[in-house]
Amino acid sequence: MRSFSLLLDFKTGEFTPHDRINMRKLSHMKGMFFDTESELQILRKEDPLIYSFSEKILPEENGHLQLATTTIQPGKIGEEYFMTKGHYHRRPDTSEVYLGMGGEGCLLMQTVDGDFDSIEIRQGVIAYIPPYWGHRMVNTGKTPFIFFAIYPGDAGHNYGDIERTGFKKILVERDKKPVLIDNPRWKQRD
Ligand code: 6PG
Ligand code: NI
Repeated sequence: MRSFSLLLDFKTGEFTPHDRINMRKLSHMKGMFFDTESELQILRKEDPLIYSFSEKILPEENGHLQLATTTIQPGKIGEEYFMTKGHYHRRPDTSEVYLGMGGEGCLLMQTVDGDFDSIEIRQGVIAYIPPYWGHRMVNTGKTPFIFFAIYPGDAGHNYGDIERTGFKKILVERDKKPVLIDNPRWKQRD
């Protein structure tokens, strides 16, 4: 393989050339927001875009690195802010770096045995997600929340565990401010 370069647009988060853009609409995240009633009400009328991420396709091999930028739209389902699905890596012993590029939000992290942590993210903040920590990003601002990610080539994605257990805490808006609350629907992984 020969070297290559990409151009990263700090305003849009897009890098060119990119090989794939993934769009996540509300219908792709059914049941992931706490307030399922509000979710259904919205879906009866429309299917809003929650986030999109663009990737450069690289070998999913040890020794390589994966690159992706994500843009989460501003918005809420009920009182809960727009967020990514969240995942562990298929290879749980792999870490990841996030770089905040635009907007503001919060990185939520948890381990399968229930440890929880969070980091506020804005432009220029670099967050290091250690191995074994599942991760989700949340847009707590009024503008698109954009971040760049780098992670090991063979990390892969495990969405199943998060779809089953949810995240231990969720971010909701109270008195116009983001507040972390316990997720009443969280289940410890068996
Ligand atoms: C990764 C990164 C990141 C993430 C996107 C979309 O492992 O690839 O964490 O690129 O995939 O931000 O979030 P979801 O993968 O949780 O939908
Ligand atoms: Ni990841």
